[in-house]
Amino acid sequence: MSSLPLHRQFPSNFVWGVATSSFQIEGAAHEDGKGESIWDRFCQQPGAIADASNGDVACDHFHRLEEDLDLIASLGVNAYRFSIAWPRVQPLGYGEFNPKGLDFYERLVDGLKARGIQAWATLNHWDLPQGLQDRGGWNDRDTVHRFVDYARHVQARLGDRLDGITTHNEPWVVATLGHDQGIFAPGIKSRRIAAQVSHHLLLSHGLALQALRADGAKSQLGIVLNLASCVPATAMPADIAAAKLADSRGRRWYADPLFKGAYPEDVLAELGADAPVVQPGDMAHIAQPMDYLGVNYYTRSVVSASGEEWNAKGRGLPVSDMDWEIYPQGLTDLLVLLKQDYAQLPPVYVTENGGAFKDDAVVLGRVQDDDRTDYLRTHIAAVASALQQGVPMAGYMVWSLMDNFEWASGYLKRFGIVHVDYGTQSRTPKASAEWYRNFLEAWRA
Ligand code: NOJ
Repeated sequence: MSSLPLHRQFPSNFVWGVATSSFQIEGAAHEDGKGESIWDRFCQQPGAIADASNGDVACDHFHRLEEDLDLIASLGVNAYRFSIAWPRVQPLGYGEFNPKGLDFYERLVDGLKARGIQAWATLNHWDLPQGLQDRGGWNDRDTVHRFVDYARHVQARLGDRLDGITTHNEPWVVATLGHDQGIFAPGIKSRRIAAQVSHHLLLSHGLALQALRADGAKSQLGIVLNLASCVPATAMPADIAAAKLADSRGRRWYADPLFKGAYPEDVLAELGADAPVVQPGDMAHIAQPMDYLGVNYYTRSVVSASGEEWNAKGRGLPVSDMDWEIYPQGLTDLLVLLKQDYAQLPPVYVTENGGAFKDDAVVLGRVQDDDRTDYLRTHIAAVASALQQGVPMAGYMVWSLMDNFEWASGYLKRFGIVHVDYGTQSRTPKASAEWYRNFLEAWRA
């Protein structure tokens, strides 16, 4: 542990940001020629979203761009991570592009630049055009090529001003929650399809990186993975083996192909006939060198042989409003593990970290979210610790800039450091936002 104050433990070129995604904040679901996304469609399914809501209005960010840009700037961050809605840019996901879609993102990116803030764009934060889903979605190999076309189109217009481009956000979620468990769009329940989807996501990442570089990419290129540190519930050999397999399914299934060009054998064996169809050359395409790796970290995963995740809440451990255990040490452990396992590990950004908490009422104009401030402070300290242990940490971004549409939980879970009143759309920075602003001010001084 360093004895320096926390803000002194980070270099002066460290990237500090806040993050959002298109579907979760933009609204304007049917404006300026935007096509339908699989999340627009999924929200119509009865019972799919906890509060039966959708993304039609969300935080109305599309109409409040200038106000939100000022809000981002007021936090003192030097980076903003957002995503581009593919169906805005290409309504069906194939065929005609819609220039008006990119007009919006151009205003966003230019607004960030005018305020001295880096622009980090994610190309796929889950809102696939429904038109492509109708043709088989990520299960269809042609979607891989459609994604590459879309990536090139975005770069051609905005690439000169984007600091970072992320191909996919959390491919595990798209594959497993969207196509195996069916609790996220497109709501498919098939282990075989999920495995194929994961392969196509990775392949499209690799092919996009090659195409963007061939086109003269000026941005840093990478991917964002959701990773948890997996630990066995007890020292029993069966629990230890279960934790190892869970780590393979979640982390290694994605990171090994990216950094080692191969899927982990234990998961391939488990999948058996459900393993993805991999064509010759695919693995080499996937293993393209990356300029950075993005890591989204929220909690650890405690695994037992009974197949059940350990229930942190049931054991009286601190949890967030998602019932996810609050365990900052897991972030250090995970980052150190990445460095140990992958010799080619590029600079690492924590591209998401934060918590949903209940203490979010506005009382006399204030939201006193001390739980969230503690969460952020302890996890930033966990990043500092990884840095001291030699992990090439380059940045940290809070999830999220503001309360937003939390997927299947609708608007019931609030992750923002800025409170959103969905009735009036008024934004109120919470105490955690003030803490972050003060922390960054001290770091800059
Ligand atoms: C990860 C996802 O990228 C983001 O969209 C989501 O809101 C947060 N985790 C919180 O669950």
